[in-house]
Amino acid sequence: MLHFDGKVALITGAGRGLGRAHALLLASRGARVVVNDLGTSGAGTGADASPAQSVVDEIRAAGGEAVVNGDSVVDGGRIVEAALDHFGRIDLVVNNAGFLRDVAFHKMTAADWDDLYQVHLLGAFRIVHAAWPRMREQGYGRVVNTSSAAGIYGNFGQVNYGSFKLALHGMTQPLAVEGKAKNIHVNTIAPAADSRLTRTVMTAEQLAPMRAELVSPLVAWLCHETCTETGGLFEVGGGFIAKLRWERSGGAYLDLTGGNAVEQVAEAWGTITDFSKCDHPAGFGEAMAPFVKLMGGA
Ligand code: NAI
Repeated sequence: MLHFDGKVALITGAGRGLGRAHALLLASRGARVVVNDLGTSGAGTGADASPAQSVVDEIRAAGGEAVVNGDSVVDGGRIVEAALDHFGRIDLVVNNAGFLRDVAFHKMTAADWDDLYQVHLLGAFRIVHAAWPRMREQGYGRVVNTSSAAGIYGNFGQVNYGSFKLALHGMTQPLAVEGKAKNIHVNTIAPAADSRLTRTVMTAEQLAPMRAELVSPLVAWLCHETCTETGGLFEVGGGFIAKLRWERSGGAYLDLTGGNAVEQVAEAWGTITDFSKCDHPAGFGEAMAPFVKLMGGA
């Protein structure tokens, strides 16, 4: 059995849905949990302390240890302080809080963009930024960011949501590089689960096999001290778990110094977009290989 004894976990948006399931699982495996949730509507409005409190009650009733926090993740520094005040350390962060404001781009307001940015991306940044020095000091930390297929693949009406959801993986990748030497591992999940968010587009019957609890085992594993994975992106839901990676076509080396440069690009388009020969750069160094070659191996 994999345990989290002695570890302190902060789960944002843990009053319901996926966050609740993560909090219950980690607590059942011995983690002391900060259950953060502002208690908003599915569109990010309002506040309600009761969902987070009921998760804390559930954890305590099962013999676990948890404390409630009702701040918005936008005040991420305060939430981390609350964790430190209460438990004296912070080991695991799951950035999960979020909401939807789906609307076609031509109808999207500046607030639809900014409100999503504040909670999904800025909130996650503020929490990790506040927890990071502690994780570095203790030489241990695990962060899981919650992305979405809407950002990875694109989906109608989700320019705001998709932008910040993919940006969370943009945060994961360099953080993973920076954290590695201090045993801080950072990964991203793109979940699929039954929650009030997905109930807006699918029926309860369709979503029945997609219980939120089936996402949490991956989150727990990524948070465990024996898990060496970092910088990864995983799709997860209903018991299906898969890893994504970048794929680069074999590409074309063109002489673009002449007057026909645009035509050269057009002519080579088939080769440029042909994935029958490809590679999978695993990091910045590997990604730079074609350019290093052009620079004469510099
Ligand atoms: P949910 O609506 O059940 O739970 C989200 C929780 O976040 C709510 O309890 C809400 O009060 C809280 N929250 C919202 N704004 C907050 C803020 N400023 N500060 C603190 N808490 C706040 O939704 P669900 O489905 O559990 O979503 C969890 C995460 O997973 C979200 O980030 C969502 O975008 C993401 N996600 C979910 C998918 C799914 O299939 N359910 C698919 C892809 C991503």
